[in-house]
Amino acid sequence: MHYRKFGGTGLDVSEVGYGAWGIGGKQWQGGTDDESVRALHRAFELGLNFIDTALAYGDGHSERLVGQVLPSAPGRVYVATKVPPKNRVWPATPGSSIDDVFPYAYIVSCTEESLRNLKLEALDLQQLHVWDPGWTARDEWKRAFEDLKKAGKIRAAGISINDHQPTTALEVIGTGLIDSVQVIYNIFDQTPEQQLFPRALERNVGVLARVPLDEGSLTGTITKEASFAGDEFRSFYFRGDRKAQVVEHVAKLQKDLKGLVGTLPEIALRFCLSHPAVSSVIPGMRRVRNVESNCGVSDRGPLDAAVLAKLKTHAWNKNFYC
Ligand SMILES: NC(=O)c1ccc[n+]([C@@H]2O[C@H](COP(=O)([O-])OP(=O)(O)OC[C@H]3O[C@@H](n4cnc5c(N)ncnc54)[C@H](OP(=O)(O)O)[C@@H]3O)[C@@H](O)[C@H]2O)c1
Repeated sequence: MHYRKFGGTGLDVSEVGYGAWGIGGKQWQGGTDDESVRALHRAFELGLNFIDTALAYGDGHSERLVGQVLPSAPGRVYVATKVPPKNRVWPATPGSSIDDVFPYAYIVSCTEESLRNLKLEALDLQQLHVWDPGWTARDEWKRAFEDLKKAGKIRAAGISINDHQPTTALEVIGTGLIDSVQVIYNIFDQTPEQQLFPRALERNVGVLARVPLDEGSLTGTITKEASFAGDEFRSFYFRGDRKAQVVEHVAKLQKDLKGLVGTLPEIALRFCLSHPAVSSVIPGMRRVRNVESNCGVSDRGPLDAAVLAKLKTHAWNKNFYC
């Protein structure tokens, strides 16, 4: 496992981090806590030292599982979590009032709840789970982050950018008041490369590449017949003719990648790590075998320029979250 500077935070984070949405259950079914715990332990053994969770994942269940495994980690593991929008609207509705989404006292109380779930004295990173550029000039979130840092409850602060909207973070990065951004970045959505990544590099802001496998499309396991439990997130994400669209795009991609060593998910993760702005790529991985495959990509280094040029042609403008 290799490590990268996490912006200006002073932390060296593993190139592959742990996306902990799936282990929260509820919206992701088909996993068990036992397997999640084993997967987390295996990830630590393989050098992973960064976890991205959220208070909303399984209503605190993901955080509690992480809190359960942290004491037996062989070394220091950095934990990032998120404050859910108070109005429970994902992504933020453009123009929504910060009073309804992230009032000062609410940011503080959610942080305290996360600390209790995680059994920690301080979070390495607290993030706002949605973002609207209209809040850049507002004072509430700035004061909350500043006071939480002063109180020793958080070490760094950042935002998780709304789905497929990387440019909505350009202005807030310019304030110098956030340490990191979390953004969808994968072979299908390469738009962060255009403006967000150059700005993050210029301002030394850490970047977490989320949904690197497009919620499973880029694992090559989504077939036209795939089915998910009715109340699972993926039954919404891959509804209607979307599975057929995925199959078509992935088949073209696999044809172009023929001869390249590694599975599709491994190449998809190496794609993310090929950009120098990315601090850590955070795949969701509840299975030990997925942890082993994913952690292994860090040692294989970036993809070469010819492969990256080929992958450019596979960018796909879609938004399955709507
Ligand atoms: N708004 C936000 O802030 C936001 C939104 C979405 C995600 N996130 C963060 O980003 C993380 C990653 O996104 P995600 O978990 O939604 O989606 P993802 O990483 O794109 O895909 C996860 C899926 O890929 C499977 N997978 C992982 N490695 C694999 C491998 N090597 N081979 C085959 N299948 C593999 C997982 O299976 P198993 O789970 O069965 O192992 C899971 O079904 C989240 O966990 C969360 O931390 C943040």
